[in-house]
Amino acid sequence: PRRTSGPLGEQPEGGRSCEMGSRGGGLHPDVERELFSAECLAARVGEVGRALAAELEGKRPLLLGVLRGAFVFAADLVRALEPVPEGTEVGFLRASSYGAGTESSGQVRVDAPPPDVRGRHVVLVEDIVDTGRTLAALVARLRAEGAESVTTCTLLDKAARRVVDVHVDHSCFACPDEFVVGYGLDFDERYRTLPYIGVLKPAAYSGLSSD
Ligand code: PRP
Repeated sequence: PRRTSGPLGEQPEGGRSCEMGSRGGGLHPDVERELFSAECLAARVGEVGRALAAELEGKRPLLLGVLRGAFVFAADLVRALEPVPEGTEVGFLRASSYGAGTESSGQVRVDAPPPDVRGRHVVLVEDIVDTGRTLAALVARLRAEGAESVTTCTLLDKAARRVVDVHVDHSCFACPDEFVVGYGLDFDERYRTLPYIGVLKPAAYSGLSSD
């Protein structure tokens, strides 16, 4: 659950873009158009994985995926660490700031405590940074719990929606201010399984879903 949709807009500057509309197998009926294909996601996640691996060499990093949305991205990212830094560990924490609606509540809830991060070089892995509240709250918490460093990495950066000034170290793609789903991202717990990122049809989040 997450995010409002804005009017159809241009792809913001920064980040990477992919060719659109390349999906041969057809889109989910609730998806208006494909934004990032599975192939495009794989290529970009591979690039970021290699950049992260170089940066983290010798640091025995702890990659922490933020559930639930980041579970797909985190799974692909950790396998894209090439060459994988010695001592790399993987964990998850659970944060949520939204109910079943489309607007942020402004509250960030951490349901599952992170593993022991004292003295660790932590990489926070997010699916999307929207207002920035979740990432800012998690970075503050990990620092307070004694992390040696916190690197932030997100699949999508929806900068137009930022409310909290939080630094994003690695962003795979700039995301237009539209309602995006797939590759782990949901609306009301649906669409997480789509292998691509797509823009949801307004009817789908107005209670007029086609299935
Ligand atoms: C989404 C996303 C981020 C957060 C970003 O999580 O996974 O954690 O919202 O929004 P923000 O920048 O405005 O804080 P959500 O609360 O939808 O939970 P989910 O990952 O379980 O879908």
